[in-house]
Amino acid sequence: MTVLLALEKVTRRFGPVTALDSVSLEAGEGEIVGLLGPSGSGKTTLLRLAGMLDCPTEGRILLEGEQMDAEGDRNLATRRKIAMILQKPVVFRGSVIRNATYGLRLRKVEAEEARARAMEALRDVGLDGMAGRAAHTLSGGEVQRLAFARAAVLRPKLLLLDEFTANLDPANITMLEKAVRRFRESGGTVVMVTHNLPQARRQADRVGLLLSGKLVETGPPQRFFDSPETKEAREFLNGTMVW
Ligand SMILES: Nc1ncnc2c1ncn2[C@@H]1O[C@H](COP(=O)(O)OP(=O)(O)OP(=O)(O)O)[C@@H](O)[C@H]1O
Ligand SMILES: [Mg+2]
Repeated sequence: MTVLLALEKVTRRFGPVTALDSVSLEAGEGEIVGLLGPSGSGKTTLLRLAGMLDCPTEGRILLEGEQMDAEGDRNLATRRKIAMILQKPVVFRGSVIRNATYGLRLRKVEAEEARARAMEALRDVGLDGMAGRAAHTLSGGEVQRLAFARAAVLRPKLLLLDEFTANLDPANITMLEKAVRRFRESGGTVVMVTHNLPQARRQADRVGLLLSGKLVETGPPQRFFDSPETKEAREFLNGTMVW
């Protein structure tokens, strides 16, 4: 496995709170890593660090061997290898297609090509029929699908997903999960945070459990779900954990 993303003993403190505590984690090219953990365990903090929206207090993060530095402009090339879908996606003003071409326009991709790529990404999530609609008129599920298209159209190497199917009906979830698999089949790497355990089992090649900022167990989904090695993972999975 070629390592794409590597976290090396990453700690992130916010004042007295240690949101992440010496976490080491790798994601290989074409791998889907599922991150699980109770509310407040550090999942979004980890994704924000991997997405260069924040910097570790200690430790380092590498993408294709290059150390990330969220504060340096010289990291634009690294930044452009990453796309992130936030826990609560927003839409930009204007039409659906304009939302979908947004990142490509920033990257100065020629208009016709941007439009063609955006239409393809919208088709992947069943929104091509709504390309001309004002984005603010979309339903919640459609907004989440649009957020996916807006990220996937950039063809990032690393896609970071923060509960990207939360509050969606099964049909929307299936459509987005298919889109994730297509992304992975084209060689992309995914780190996905989810509270949906069956989804982690279905989608991830490897899962990791965060508790109070510590990565307590990682492993292939079948082993993790069927015979977790740690007491913490067993308690988390059978719902008896107290935190
Ligand atoms: N900017 C910040 N300032 C202060 N504390 C923060 C900040 N960001 C996160 N935290 C704290 O760090 C801890 C981890 O937060 P994080 O958002 O990573 O949790 P999470 O696992 O994503 O939870 P959820 O499942 O509820 O989304 C929490 O205690 C949170 O309050
Ligand atoms: Mg979160």
